[in-house]
Amino acid sequence: MALRHFLKLTDFSKDELQELIKRAIELKAMHRKGEIFEPLKNKTLGMIFEKSSTRTRVSFETAMTHFGGHAIFLSPRDTQLGRGEPIEDSARVLSRMVDIIMIRTYEHEKIERFAEYSNVPVINALTDKFHPCQLLADMQTYIELRGNIKGKKVAWISDGNNMCHSYINAAKMFEFELKIACPEGHYPDKDILASAKEYCEIVSRPDIAATNADLIVTDVWASMGQEEEQAARLKAFAGYQVTPELMAKARPDALFMHCLPAHRGEEVSAAVIDGPQSTVWDEAENRLHAQKALLEFLMTREI
Ligand code: CP
Ligand code: NVA
Repeated sequence: MALRHFLKLTDFSKDELQELIKRAIELKAMHRKGEIFEPLKNKTLGMIFEKSSTRTRVSFETAMTHFGGHAIFLSPRDTQLGRGEPIEDSARVLSRMVDIIMIRTYEHEKIERFAEYSNVPVINALTDKFHPCQLLADMQTYIELRGNIKGKKVAWISDGNNMCHSYINAAKMFEFELKIACPEGHYPDKDILASAKEYCEIVSRPDIAATNADLIVTDVWASMGQEEEQAARLKAFAGYQVTPELMAKARPDALFMHCLPAHRGEEVSAAVIDGPQSTVWDEAENRLHAQKALLEFLMTREI
């Protein structure tokens, strides 16, 4: 079986991504029925977290429990990774023991280097550049609630961050139109944007992005690692909050998404995130089902 990694959405083909979402929906239904399905019995997932996490850790760990396998939580605080053991050495050692590895870290180059030296599949569980696992859950959620996202209009109203970059990749892979509203100085990476230029556009105001949107998405204004910029970012992003007034510009059946954790009163008002168009709890739950589909794909498919 050829070794595959999932470091960004574009590592998979359009067909593979569609297949993955379809499988995630099936696995969710099987789980709801109480079906026991253990394709990863005796398999181990290594989970390296250099940043905090609630959803990602719990969803991956639970996914391995459902599948009959095991997961090991590794943090720099209590492994040699935190004491400077080279990433290449860690990759070679860990991949001789565990069957698959997920990593949450800062620099995207670090996970690329890790993958280069790993003998087992590596999954990006968030870097400063991308958060592809979240997009699997978001696409699953949209498709479950509204059907195909192809040709739909999605508004990104927030920072040009790792989630925004993953939405840009998703626009290309799932063929939707993405309008990006972010303050000057906080635009997404221009090469990533250029790679999906037929699908994405930066607009000058949040209301322009929101008008007639089928889906409005936001994220925190200061990501992990940017804590010291919090005050400056609060100023820079004033006017970018997703409010009921902004939601009213979208189509009446538009959905609201946020990868969480959220800051009510900053990037989103409580009335929106806790309101009827919000799908954030489905989105969070779907991390589990989408990642089960991903683990199954990376570890059991026949080539
Ligand atoms: N959305 C997300 O990745 O959440 P965590 O940071 O809690 O894992
Ligand atoms: N952009 C956020 C996403 C958290 C899941 C961050 O990187 O902190």
